[in-house]
Amino acid sequence: MIVFFKMIVFFKENAMPANRRPTRLKSRPPVPIRKLTEEMMWSLWRAFALVAAIELDVFTRIDAGKTTAREIAEDAGADEAAMRRLLDALVALGYLRRVKDRYALEALAKTCLVRGGDLYMEGAAMIARGLTMGWMQLAEVVRTGKPAVQENSEARARQFFPVLVRSLFPANYTAARAAAASLARDRRHPIASILDVAAGSGAWSIPFAERFPKARVTVLDFPEVTPIAREYATAHGVAERYEFLEGNLRETDFGRDCRDLVILGHIVHSEGPEWGRRLIEKSAAALRKGGTLMIAEMVPNDARTGPAPEMLFSLNMLIHTGEGDVFTMADYRKWLRAAGLGNVRTLKTAAAPSPLIFATK
Ligand SMILES: C[S@@+](CC[C@H](N)C(=O)[O-])C[C@H]1O[C@@H](n2cnc3c(N)ncnc32)[C@H](O)[C@@H]1O
Repeated sequence: MIVFFKMIVFFKENAMPANRRPTRLKSRPPVPIRKLTEEMMWSLWRAFALVAAIELDVFTRIDAGKTTAREIAEDAGADEAAMRRLLDALVALGYLRRVKDRYALEALAKTCLVRGGDLYMEGAAMIARGLTMGWMQLAEVVRTGKPAVQENSEARARQFFPVLVRSLFPANYTAARAAAASLARDRRHPIASILDVAAGSGAWSIPFAERFPKARVTVLDFPEVTPIAREYATAHGVAERYEFLEGNLRETDFGRDCRDLVILGHIVHSEGPEWGRRLIEKSAAALRKGGTLMIAEMVPNDARTGPAPEMLFSLNMLIHTGEGDVFTMADYRKWLRAAGLGNVRTLKTAAAPSPLIFATK
């Protein structure tokens, strides 16, 4: 009721001036109107249906053998008819299938949305809900040029990142497996020493530790996050080769000429252009001759006109950070060259929207 009242006030306050009122349509609309409905309604609703299903743990319940709307609703303490509507919508969205009155998981839901699974996207609903609150304020952010919330301020980061990094694990681990396979083919010498900067769950380094059994990995992150990397490294049987450096990456010494691989996984964007460039410089200095820097990022085209996920990510940074943004391949090439790295190359993987970037010292 309150929401409805607020909407009426909003519409009154934002009423169109008389010269902008709708006129009679003279011909068939020449534009794809459906795109607007799709983007302003359906794509948001898709996300919220999924968030609700995760919050009600629908996928885990189905995996555990509750397969009718009644069983799932009872198990979740939910209303049966309402649950049936949600389940049928999830069938339409491709997460479930239904035979008569029994629901089953499609492969993506089975792999990533069942609690306890290897690639469970833990915390994803909480992150989606949290980020949505910032996105609701985008117009105001653009008006003022100030972020809605600064998730990378140290105090907030320490609460936000422990949840975020778990939700990122499945996609980043999958992309990193492809990266490790590619680097194993490229390199003449095995990788012995890895620095995973802003490691989060360790998603980017764990596949390298798995592929190079002698490799030792140093994880750098806040003390609230390193236990998560330890947990995932333990689950993958590589924790005894991990060590944990806790602190702020801006103040931490990365060492010199001592690493075969330095990983910057989804950290340059939130650091912004100045600290991002410095981070690349510090990482390059830490590499041995012949060592590799790997950067995982959202990278738009050089004109910054697309692809859409990368440009939307740029807005996400505008909303949630002070200086964060996405940077182009031209930016990365310039920073990598200035840091003394060459042989810049990219690797497209199925799990990440943008290609991974590699450069050699
Ligand atoms: C977007 S997450 C990426 C995590 C991981 N690399 C991945 O891609 O899955 C950013 C990570 O950087 C860490 N981080 C951000 N700012 C940091 C800082 N100033 N010092 C140390 N770690 C930081 C966060 O705690 C978080 O783990």
